[in-house]
Amino acid sequence: MCGIVGYIGRQKAAPLILEGLKRLEYRGYDSAGVAVLENGRFSVAKRIGRVANLEKDGATQRLAGTAGMGHTRWATHGGVTDANAHPHLSSDGTIALIHNGVIENYAQIKAFLIDKGYTFKSETDTEVLCNLIAYHHAKEPAGHNGDSRFVESVRKTLRHAEGTYGIVVMALDAPGELVTARKGSPLIIGLGDGESLVASDVAAIVSRTQNVVYLKDGEIAHLTAKNLAITTLGAGAVEPVIDKVTWSIADAELGTFSHFMEKEIFEQPAALENAMRGRFSEDGSTANFGGLNITAGEFRGIERFMFCACGTALHAAMVTEHMIERFARMPVECDYASEFRYRNSPLFRNTLFFVMSQSGETIDTLAALREAKRKGYKVLAVNNVVGSTIAREADGGIYQHVGPEVGVASTKAFTSQLLIGAMLALYIGRMRDLSFGEGVRFVEALKSAPGLARIALEQAAHIREIAKRFAHYTDMLFLGRLSLFPIALEGALKLKEISYIHAEGYPAAEMKHGPIALISEKCPSVFLVPSGEMLNKIISSMQEIKARKGPIIAIVTASVELPAGLADETIVVPEAHEAVLPIIMSIPVQLLSYYIAVERGCDVDKPRNLAKSVTVE
Ligand code: M6R
Repeated sequence: MCGIVGYIGRQKAAPLILEGLKRLEYRGYDSAGVAVLENGRFSVAKRIGRVANLEKDGATQRLAGTAGMGHTRWATHGGVTDANAHPHLSSDGTIALIHNGVIENYAQIKAFLIDKGYTFKSETDTEVLCNLIAYHHAKEPAGHNGDSRFVESVRKTLRHAEGTYGIVVMALDAPGELVTARKGSPLIIGLGDGESLVASDVAAIVSRTQNVVYLKDGEIAHLTAKNLAITTLGAGAVEPVIDKVTWSIADAELGTFSHFMEKEIFEQPAALENAMRGRFSEDGSTANFGGLNITAGEFRGIERFMFCACGTALHAAMVTEHMIERFARMPVECDYASEFRYRNSPLFRNTLFFVMSQSGETIDTLAALREAKRKGYKVLAVNNVVGSTIAREADGGIYQHVGPEVGVASTKAFTSQLLIGAMLALYIGRMRDLSFGEGVRFVEALKSAPGLARIALEQAAHIREIAKRFAHYTDMLFLGRLSLFPIALEGALKLKEISYIHAEGYPAAEMKHGPIALISEKCPSVFLVPSGEMLNKIISSMQEIKARKGPIIAIVTASVELPAGLADETIVVPEAHEAVLPIIMSIPVQLLSYYIAVERGCDVDKPRNLAKSVTVE
């Protein structure tokens, strides 16, 4: 959720922080704010709306200090108001704070602080944390373990805080220092040339440095321009591990595209290539994964698989379920991570868990991972963001390697998850009944995916025209069968989240058990129509819709010939192997949603009420 940036160095902090905030805006965009420490006081500029609003405001231009922090908010406690925007100052003016997360016991802490004479200007849990740090800071003698008094006051506060947080704190009497700490909300420290940065996402700091330290839960970092010291909540010292970020700032910029979603849709051929690079065996008959941390022998002992994920990632897991069952003939179960974590469902022995998450920070998915581990199961992760909490807590996993995904609507991360799911099916299948020849053909099919995706993208201009004719509808159905049913769900999710059109995904044949009641000339259906054994069944479903005057968009593979007049619009994609078909069918579905949203004038990359990674419950 919220975006966080902190800077301490030789440059004016405010412009660097604003630049970082713009790159993080996809994390939250209700309001934005910056605070710098200058001339012995905190100067704060904050306002509701986008970072651009804040930047236009002359107040940020006047901020001259070389240490500061900024925040983009996705509201949890308290409405969207200037007063609730971060940074917050303690009522005695000694501490400034930005926060991502939720402090669950804020009401008790607030009552305690009111009793001590602290006052509050906002409705946020963050201001409570800020005042509690000020309270401890005012009382704190010199710290333990060589820590400054400042770090110790943060530590004492966090020992009382229940909930989740990623925070950056500044103290009036410690002008050359930032303190940052996390529990459940990501924070990355950047070590530059005579400057230090902290952010909730690499995108905000990669233009300044590629040397980063991923802060872990329960750690507190004390930063100066040239130094970094990490301790734990228990005051133990931690040796920082410096990682190198492998992508560059160009990966996080729009280039010639109008939106990140558009850029990321068109990046998919390259993303697919990256996701499979170096992951096939030398004999070309199976997949190889470096980081599973589970031996082939252990894998052979597995009797079933369980996948947990949220949103788009769950749809990718559902396709993976189909692939593993189809090609490896093994039972797979998929569940919403948010349900699994509380359902306490009976689990089988010899089950291998997988979680799928682009960000690796989704709180429900993380909680599902922890619940499965608590019950003694191994959990592997399919994840895009290197060093994310899920990647670190999983027993092993597979990185997607598709670079930063900035658009809130997941696209390239989704299709790369589909690809990795198919590769997993191949890997498991080859340990079982899939023959050498079938394996070779499977690998060849996977290798064809980027080229086929390029051909599917050639339909963009045609889909844009269709979108113009369909953008005014208020309801839409997406219908597909077997491995394309989750793609129908994904199409409906994409359309809902970025264009605000009500949409539902259904198995095509299930439609007649209820949703058909919605059909009229006012409710179009998007059908996913591959060649093969289900074709006639799908055509029958289309006829049922047509008989009720429902407009139809048919996304067909190249050899499909539909009865004349059945579809109002047809989009043709190339024929593809069963394992690749869901990837290829996803592309027109994404483009259709994208162009409809553009046509409706929606803010595609920052849809209302949403944030890129959902790190609160
Ligand atoms: O980062 P994750 O893959 O764990 O995110 C899961 C969902 O929040 C995410 O896929 C969401 O549904 C997207 N906005 C869909 O486009």
